[in-house]
Amino acid sequence: MDASNGNSAKSATLTIGEQSWDLPILKGSIGPDVVDIGKLYGQTGMFTYDPGFTSTASCESSITYIDGDEGILLYRGYPIEQLAESGDFLETCYLLLYGELPTAAQKADFDYRVTRHTMVHEQMSRFFHGFRRDAHPMAVLVASVGALSAFYHDSTDIADPQQRMIASIRMIAKMPTLAAMAYKYTVGQPFVYPKNDLDYSSNFLRMCFSVPCEEYKVNPILSRAIDRIFILHADHEQNASTSTVRLAGSSGANPFACIAAGIACLWGPAHGGANEAALKMLGEIGSVDRIPEYIKRAKDKNDPFRLMGFGHRVYKNYDPRAKIMQKTCHEVLGELGIKDDPLLDIAVELERIALQDEYFVERKLYPNIDFYSGITLRALGFPTSMFTVLFALARTVGWIGQWKEMIEDPGQRIGRPRQLYTGATSRDYIPIARRK
Ligand code: CMC
Repeated sequence: MDASNGNSAKSATLTIGEQSWDLPILKGSIGPDVVDIGKLYGQTGMFTYDPGFTSTASCESSITYIDGDEGILLYRGYPIEQLAESGDFLETCYLLLYGELPTAAQKADFDYRVTRHTMVHEQMSRFFHGFRRDAHPMAVLVASVGALSAFYHDSTDIADPQQRMIASIRMIAKMPTLAAMAYKYTVGQPFVYPKNDLDYSSNFLRMCFSVPCEEYKVNPILSRAIDRIFILHADHEQNASTSTVRLAGSSGANPFACIAAGIACLWGPAHGGANEAALKMLGEIGSVDRIPEYIKRAKDKNDPFRLMGFGHRVYKNYDPRAKIMQKTCHEVLGELGIKDDPLLDIAVELERIALQDEYFVERKLYPNIDFYSGITLRALGFPTSMFTVLFALARTVGWIGQWKEMIEDPGQRIGRPRQLYTGATSRDYIPIARRK
């Protein structure tokens, strides 16, 4: 295929045998251009083939931009470092949903609206009691967010912009409540209701860690740390779970059910489950002197073991979120007076060795956000099974923002990929008695 820049619009020429077709090239504001193959099948009778979507832009979006080679992440054009340093999570939510940073009045109004939706229907608590106490909180979260679709019938007409916004606010507001309930249920403690005079992250910490018999005092440094962790996870372009939400939503499905689909996808260890897997791996390594053994295993093609928290489909440079997470990790450990964390020592040494190793250098494998998040969340008091739940809580705004953008796109159609079929060709049915 040749790409040429003519006088007017750019196009690419696809030649198959004797025939050629012009394919339009579309330009983004930054990042790679895309070859528009929407009419390819109609014109050539051929599909494109790209398992894992490594070269495919699945949609047009103006929410989040990643430059994986430079290690840049922008939400609506703003660098993640600046948002994490100077803003708060609800400001990031506003930015992702509305496209601009709020004025002081808009921010106050948004915070108020989110705060007024933090409670879940009382019936939900009975729904929780149907689970075994040892259920993984991600299993509980998938189910309980899916169950929200049975409760809020006044915000599910997706053709109505106002209802779309109410559903969005509800999801951002109720997620901390559900996540905290999932945690409380596994530890056998009573659910704690939201307290609306607290900010979003302090309220979440209180719902997780307060008990009725004692007053819980929120440590502002720790609540700021968790708020920053939420900002870092808020959106990440067309990743697997976001694409899942978009695909589920493309059929016109209930918005709460679409978010439940995203949570299910996030759970996997190659995606959001990597923070849990990374911490387990550090624990399994156990001591600095065993690191070379694990590096060797990660490089061995016959061993399925991978360094969890390392590598990324898009970042071929240091994940910018990982840098901020590393700093946050040190701040949290410092505040809690944890001077020696053996897992942190292993993480720092593992990172140092891997970043010098030819295998990792050649493949541009750097620590990703999950490498330091587990150590931080554990120090904050969360069990490993809650790590991905916190990721889901934070990513909800990204999912819902991307879902809204898709629904509001006038050219939106149901997502329906095609395939390269390699199964049996047409054959006749054989009655069971005659089969050998
Ligand atoms: N340890 C060892 N080797 C690795 C690793 C790793 N963590 N990641 C990739 N590689 C190797 C892989 O074996 C392959 O080598 P070769 O070219 O010799 O076959 C090469 O690097 C490219 O890997 P890939 O699997 O083709 O890359 P991918 O883009 O399909 O996978 C990934 C990306 C994130 C799934 C993968 O790097 C991985 O499994 N990492 C560990 C899990 C993890 O930390 N996931 C969190 C991602 S960030 C949070 C999020 O977005 O959810």
